[in-house]
Amino acid sequence: MINIRLANQEDGGAIKKIADLLYLDIPEFNWNKDDFIKGQIKKGEYYVAEENGKIIGITSLRDRNSRLYIETLAVAKDIQSSGIGKKLVEFTKQFAKENNFKIMRTTSFYEYGVKDFWIKQGFKLFDEPGQYSGHEFYRLELKLND
Ligand SMILES: CC(C)(COP(=O)(O)OP(=O)(O)OC[C@H]1O[C@@H](n2cnc3c(N)ncnc32)[C@H](O)[C@@H]1OP(=O)(O)O)[C@@H](O)C(=O)NCCC(=O)NCCS
Repeated sequence: MINIRLANQEDGGAIKKIADLLYLDIPEFNWNKDDFIKGQIKKGEYYVAEENGKIIGITSLRDRNSRLYIETLAVAKDIQSSGIGKKLVEFTKQFAKENNFKIMRTTSFYEYGVKDFWIKQGFKLFDEPGQYSGHEFYRLELKLND
């Protein structure tokens, strides 16, 4: 059974391993850095999906101007395409509803090639992409129904 729970500092190493899947060769790429992950855990932003005590997926969430941003999402390589990513996004939608967020957002570098994953989860693309250090990313939004 898969259990999704708030991460603690002891999870840092396992989170880092999965967050390394996000790495892109971009100056100041932060999302897989130990200190950055530690900081997110400390702020209570990181959640992990666990199966039989093993961390198999990660997501971090942040309140930005009363919108809930999915800052990171990744699933261990050997277990991708088995529904864990979808489960994590469903968890974040539930979290958003319980915490009275009306809007969720996320971004996704073109290099990841996962735009259609987000569309399948109900997110809509903004027309204008974003840019970070010269790398374009999709901007996506989901409006939660009351
Ligand atoms: C993207 C990612 C989180 C998806 O998680 P996953 O567990 O592999 O995906 P799921 O099995 O839950 O897929 C859910 C649905 O999305 C579809 N999907 C998954 N990855 C997709 C992709 N790259 N492109 C298009 N559709 C995709 C699946 O086919 C499935 O469709 P269905 O509901 O019709 O069966 C995972 O592949 C991953 O960690 N990738 C590497 C890191 C990354 O790119 N993270 C995203 C950063 S924005």
